[in-house]
Amino acid sequence: MKSYTVAELLNSETLVQEVIVKGWIRTFRANRFIALNDGSTINNIQCVVDFENTNEEILNRITTGAAVSIKGELIESQGKGQKVEVKVQEVTILGDADPEEVSKTILQPKKHSLEFLREQAHLRTRTNTFSAVMRLRSSLSFAVHKYFTENGFYHMHTPIITGSDAEGAGEMFRVTTLDPKNPPLDEEGNIDYSKDFFGKETNLTVSGQLEAETYAMALGKVYTFGPTFRAENSNTSRHLSEFWMIEPEVAFMDLSGNMDLAEDFMKSVLSYILEHNPDDLAFLENRLIQEDKAKPQAERSEMTLTEKLRFVIDNNFKRVSYTEAIDILRNSKPNKKKKFKYLIDEWGADLQSEHERFLVEKHFKCPVILFDYPANIKAFYMRLNEDEKTVRAMDILFPGIGEIVGGSQREERLDVLKEKMAALDIPEEELWWYLELRKYGTAVHSGFGLGFERLVMFATGMTNIKDVIPYPRTPQNAEF
Ligand code: 4AD
Ligand code: MG
Repeated sequence: MKSYTVAELLNSETLVQEVIVKGWIRTFRANRFIALNDGSTINNIQCVVDFENTNEEILNRITTGAAVSIKGELIESQGKGQKVEVKVQEVTILGDADPEEVSKTILQPKKHSLEFLREQAHLRTRTNTFSAVMRLRSSLSFAVHKYFTENGFYHMHTPIITGSDAEGAGEMFRVTTLDPKNPPLDEEGNIDYSKDFFGKETNLTVSGQLEAETYAMALGKVYTFGPTFRAENSNTSRHLSEFWMIEPEVAFMDLSGNMDLAEDFMKSVLSYILEHNPDDLAFLENRLIQEDKAKPQAERSEMTLTEKLRFVIDNNFKRVSYTEAIDILRNSKPNKKKKFKYLIDEWGADLQSEHERFLVEKHFKCPVILFDYPANIKAFYMRLNEDEKTVRAMDILFPGIGEIVGGSQREERLDVLKEKMAALDIPEEELWWYLELRKYGTAVHSGFGLGFERLVMFATGMTNIKDVIPYPRTPQNAEF
């Protein structure tokens, strides 16, 4: 007898006399109807038990949450709402789930708050919302690799433990094997890192960019897709301490090529899920529609989830310089109080997420690429423009998210890069290998970083980044 997944059975073109299907019971109604799910699809298959001919002990163990193996026949469904169902011949209980215990968990089939689900992150993927989000996350990850592979990029694995600070922001998790209570000290009384595991100070990577640059300058087009770590103490719905980043890097490509690449890439991965994950998207779209109904009219979304995805795919991203954006923000009245929480009063100020979202959602009403930022609010490696004030940076802003991509053309001139590092007190010894790239066959090159969780947020309509990664790490929180 052959085993089938729920998805295979639901999509089967033919009826099958003998099937085995294994999964977890979502509900058991009227001593007859099992709703079975195995994660292969958002949909459950209905399995109809002949209770008169089923052992009572087994009947009692068919409970929400239990793992079972069901043997039966795939027949045309008698009921409404499904094409096929399984006429059960035998139920084998693989793992019991005590109803009383289950009633304390999120497995209990009723509506739970997302906060409650987070407390049981080890179980939440058994809910429809999370299984849909995680299947979409997996699909998007595949779409990323597919896009780059089909466009001539090589995938490279950048190190997780590094000796450098790629963003120069000092927000790193230290990696050390020294005894925190009794570390070796040097003559001046400072911790002696030469005695540490690697013989120097090391940390978890904040970005694979610098190493990706070295590979782009040999392989031409590369990308990384790995975990990155930031010890920034921001407790927002868009920041994680551990997140996954996609970073392409391309030799001989300037900033405008970088914008073209990012736009084409974003459109491609979103198109992929529209085509391949219709059931999960439909479920999440409906979830948002229901949520909206509970809100006052003014707070409801103007677009459905699919419309939002289509909107990004079908429209050109608006390209706007930082200087133009500042002018717009200075002359805008964002809300009833007619002002932003943080006022943008002079050129050179960094944009806050309220400004980014205003530009995207209220002013341009489409994804926006902001470019040519003031040099002093951006990282050391960005290419200085001829005005010597701005750098060839770009941020892509998305509705509901704000910054989703950050990238730039890189400073390829050795002398300018050295000057910049000196001004920011970045020791040359730390990045000697990075500087050498500018010595041997330097060339224009560019790349960007996409925060994978922000992409998953956009694609699923989830509004808290903690709900799009299996086990979120945030300040004061690494429970699982
Ligand atoms: O703008 P960021 O800091 O840029 C870089 O790290 C560059 N090295 C990228 C490159 O050019 N190769 O980060 C890039 C993106 C952001 O736009 C955001 O989407 C995401 O990474 N990101 C975070 N996502 C979740 N939690 C955080 N704490 C994040 N910090 C950045
Ligand atoms: Mg950024």
